[in-house]
Amino acid sequence: MKTTVFVSRKIPRAGIDILEEAGMAVEVNPEDRVLTAEELMVGCRGKDGLLCLLTDTIDRAFLKKMSQLKGIANMAVGYNNIDVNAAAERGIPVSNTPGVLTEAAADLTWALLVATARRLSEAERYLRAGEFTGWGPLLFLGGDLPGRTLGIIGAGRIGTAVGVRSQGFRMKIIYTDPNRNMVLEEELDGRRVELDTLLAQSDFITLHVPLTEETRHLIGSRELRRMKKTAYLINTSRGPVVDEEALVEALQSGEIAGAGLDVFEKEPHIHPGLLSLPSAVLLPHIGSATIETRTRMAEMAARNLVAMMKGERPPDCVNL
Ligand code: GLV
Repeated sequence: MKTTVFVSRKIPRAGIDILEEAGMAVEVNPEDRVLTAEELMVGCRGKDGLLCLLTDTIDRAFLKKMSQLKGIANMAVGYNNIDVNAAAERGIPVSNTPGVLTEAAADLTWALLVATARRLSEAERYLRAGEFTGWGPLLFLGGDLPGRTLGIIGAGRIGTAVGVRSQGFRMKIIYTDPNRNMVLEEELDGRRVELDTLLAQSDFITLHVPLTEETRHLIGSRELRRMKKTAYLINTSRGPVVDEEALVEALQSGEIAGAGLDVFEKEPHIHPGLLSLPSAVLLPHIGSATIETRTRMAEMAARNLVAMMKGERPPDCVNL
């Protein structure tokens, strides 16, 4: 009997090849859309393994019904979409894809930060609308980067890579993290501070924490009020780390200068307040979206799943 695995959405071919070369019968969601909970269960029924995405909710109820699964490989570094403890209780290993998307995520964060400071989306919309009638001394004035302070909340792999990018722009770095980060401190002259200090001193705040119960709404109205009126908030981590309602209010009332967001609280729903705010640059969760990175993520998820199907501990296990 062949090992059977379900892949919840079309992914780069390289990942499927790894599964097939390992002798598995692979079924891929034929439609290029997120499956409903019911459809996902139908797809997984009787399968030995699942390769899923951050858009699939794998909760306790799902795991109870799909307890035949011998492994779940998430094609993402964040795994807040999976109840990994409930999976562990059932002896089901879960893996993620750390490391391979660090540079792509940091690049996108940096692009979003610059786009937000220099009002790129607003300026392009203006040009496309035919409103550009010539250079203007006060046209789309934004904020400078050199000499400004970058506050990194969450100094893991991606937060560190963002810090590295800031050096080309001669920015100062402060950060918060449960652990000290020697790259930021020793190579980039960064300083570890308390969250309130970071909020008060930063000109740009960038979020790189995983979404957990502790980090949900880490940035809410209290934190936004502590930020400088001239400061920008950048989020490429997970939407619920920011209280979106509070952010809309802060942007509307001018409590902060702008926000660059690649992630949202209730994706794919976007708060209508954000859509109508010119000071918000909004992207459709494309942090890791490069051909090379998504290929590496698919390969890594597939290799983890192959290990789990052989009864081995996957190289990137997050729960057992
Ligand atoms: C993307 O958001 C990821 O977690 O990989």
